[in-house]
Amino acid sequence: MSVHKEIKRITTRTLQDFKQEGVKISMLTAYDFSMAKIIDSAGIDVILVGDSASNVMAGHETTLPITLEQMIYHASSVVRGVQRALVVVDLPFGYYQGNSRLALESAIRIMKEAGAHAVKLEGGSEIRESIERILTAGIPVMGHLGLTPQSIYKFGTYTVRAKEDTEARKLIEDAILLEKTGCFAIVLEKIPAQLATTVAQKVQIPVIGIGAGGGVDGQVLVSHDMLGITKEFQPRFLRRYLNMYDEVQSAVKQYVDDVKSRNFPNSEEQY
Ligand code: KIV
Repeated sequence: MSVHKEIKRITTRTLQDFKQEGVKISMLTAYDFSMAKIIDSAGIDVILVGDSASNVMAGHETTLPITLEQMIYHASSVVRGVQRALVVVDLPFGYYQGNSRLALESAIRIMKEAGAHAVKLEGGSEIRESIERILTAGIPVMGHLGLTPQSIYKFGTYTVRAKEDTEARKLIEDAILLEKTGCFAIVLEKIPAQLATTVAQKVQIPVIGIGAGGGVDGQVLVSHDMLGITKEFQPRFLRRYLNMYDEVQSAVKQYVDDVKSRNFPNSEEQY
C-alpha cells in the first residue's frame, strides 16, 4: 500500500467543471521552482508562467524582450515544483504572431522541454490560424484579450481597454471566436467589469480576469504584485496580501547588522 496521499491534478476539464458548478478559479504566476512549490502547496488551481517574467524577473520595462529559451527555463523550473496545479505557459512575443508553423513549433518546445500542460497566447482573430495549428497537436490553448501587454507599443499605454463600444464589441466577438476555435479558457485583462461579466456569460469556457471585476469565473494576479515584492506598481485592481519588499529588506538589514557586530554566527551556529 502506498503511503503517499494521491493528489488530484487540476486539468482543463476540472476548470470547465468549476465553471459549471460556480466554483471560482484561482490563478497566480510563478517563474521558479521554490515559489511554484509554495504556491502549489497552498492550493492554487492554475499556475501561469507569464511572460511578465520579463518584467519581474529580468527587470525589463515590457514583456517583449523575453525569449522562448528563457520561458522554457522558467517553465521547467516551475513544473518541477508543482504537484497539483495546471501549469500554463505564455508563448513569448515573436514566436507565434503571423506564423502558425512557428507557433506550433514554439508550443511543442514548451510542452516537450518544460513539461507544461497548456500554452497562452495574446490576441483574437489575428492569431486564429496559430491557435488552430497548435490545437492540431493536442496542446490546450488559453486565450488572452483586453490589455495584451505584448501589444503595448500599439496601445501606447497600460490604461483600461475596451471602454469604447467598438473595442468592446470586437472583444466580445474575439472571445466567442476563441471559444469556437477551441481555447479551453480566456484571460481578460484590465477591462470594465460589466463587459467582462457579459463575456463570461456569453461563452461556456472559463473566463479568468485580472482587473476585470468579480463577475468572471476566476481571478489571476502576478504573484510578485500580490506578495508586495514589487512596490511601485499599484493599480486599482491589485490587492496586496503581503509586504515582502519591506519584510525581506528588514530581514537583510538585520543580517547585515548581525554580521558586522559579530552577533552572527554564535557559538551554536558553527561546527
Ligand atoms: O504574463 C502575465 O503575467 C500575464 C498575466 C498578467 C495574466 O499574462
